[in-house]
Amino acid sequence: MDFDAIQFWGKIVQSASATANIFEREFARETIFADRAIITPHYTPKELPFREPYINNISSMLAQTIKGKKADNIFIYGKVGTGKTSVTKHVMQQLLEFASSKNVAVEGNYVNCRNHNSKYRILIKAAKDFYPEENFLGFSAAFVYEKLVDYARKGRQIVLVLDEIDKVKDLDDLVYGLTRANDEMQQGGISIIGISNNVMFKDRLDPRTKSSLCEKELVFPPYNAPELTEILKQRTEKAFSPGTVDESAVSLAAAIAAQESGDARTAVKLMLRAGEIADRKGSGRVTDAEVKKAKKQVDEEIIFDMVSTLPQQQQLVLYSIAALSLTKKPQPKITGEREEGVLFSGEVYDEYCTICRKFKETPVSARWYREYISELEMFGLILSTASGKGIKGQTTLIKLGFEAQRIKAQIERELSDSTA
Ligand SMILES: Nc1ncnc2c1ncn2[C@@H]1O[C@H](COP(=O)(O)OP(=O)(O)OP(=O)(O)O)[C@@H](O)[C@H]1O
Ligand SMILES: [Mg+2]
Repeated sequence: MDFDAIQFWGKIVQSASATANIFEREFARETIFADRAIITPHYTPKELPFREPYINNISSMLAQTIKGKKADNIFIYGKVGTGKTSVTKHVMQQLLEFASSKNVAVEGNYVNCRNHNSKYRILIKAAKDFYPEENFLGFSAAFVYEKLVDYARKGRQIVLVLDEIDKVKDLDDLVYGLTRANDEMQQGGISIIGISNNVMFKDRLDPRTKSSLCEKELVFPPYNAPELTEILKQRTEKAFSPGTVDESAVSLAAAIAAQESGDARTAVKLMLRAGEIADRKGSGRVTDAEVKKAKKQVDEEIIFDMVSTLPQQQQLVLYSIAALSLTKKPQPKITGEREEGVLFSGEVYDEYCTICRKFKETPVSARWYREYISELEMFGLILSTASGKGIKGQTTLIKLGFEAQRIKAQIERELSDSTA
């Protein structure tokens, strides 16, 4: 550091020491959290109440691998926050721990396909776990695939967990390749656990992929209010300091989450945000009031998450709806009033095709487009209704359920991330 720089930093340090360090206040701030991480949705608890039968089921299917045989592929689906990821990670952790303690050649990969959304990216992620010192970027998919198969061929059983598998663009190719490799292997094997919260996804698969991927199937049901109360009790007891959370606040959070979706993530998030609100207020306590306040914040976060988990093509459809809603003039109604943001299904499809060209994507057929629309409605992101006769013949009218500008901006960000 040269002399000028030392003087410069010296002055800064001097002036800062005249007043308290800006972190002093944050450091001294009282908190009701004993261990905040435990109540975040990313935390995988060791105990997963109400999922015992699923844990047992998956472990007995995977037990084949510790006997040196390939396990059947498993497809797990169920709505958001029903414990699919947590249960699978828990079972995998136990499997790998056991295998290593017995010196059995079982290995596992966990791939989140939201971040690795193509066959190539998945293969690279998986191969990199087994050959940490090698760099596969730039090599062909065939080469990376061969390396992965080679690893299994040496007598190893590999379990490849593909979470959010509906995100994979060329899944048929990947599954077909791995199935063929298994058929040709003398020893070793690669089993797949596919996880999805998209109930319609399975029906969209190529029949051959479907029968290969779904050799075994498990459906995780939503949790009811008493189950969520119990789950939350266990988590809050460890996450918060004793006596800082009202019992009624826990029941309320559980009731809200059960009523909306039966989703444990929403329940956990409600308690996390409620705790943060209590900390900000300095009240030292989570009551019903903090949970009610947290609900608003969590609702917004859920929409944000939902949009970001949509497959890219569906994001493009939603993007088209948002973009058109912003530019289209209000629609006259029979009563003479004008309604904003009401779109014709046909014009949305045209806009979608234009936007696909802009993003260099091939648009899906009108039939798939209609499927996407009904799914977006099911997620509550849009409203749609058949128009009466008269308006352009009979058509479907579509309206965005949320603020167009925000949805559009979010998808723009997501798309630029995934193409980066
Ligand atoms: N039985 C349970 N006991 C305790 N916590 C649970 C249980 N089930 C789910 N959770 C918690 O709920 C949150 C969501 O669970 P998880 O991520 O496993 O759901 P998911 O089914 O994978 O959801 P998505 O489809 O959105 O990926 C996590 O914080 C997890 O720890
Ligand atoms: Mg999950």
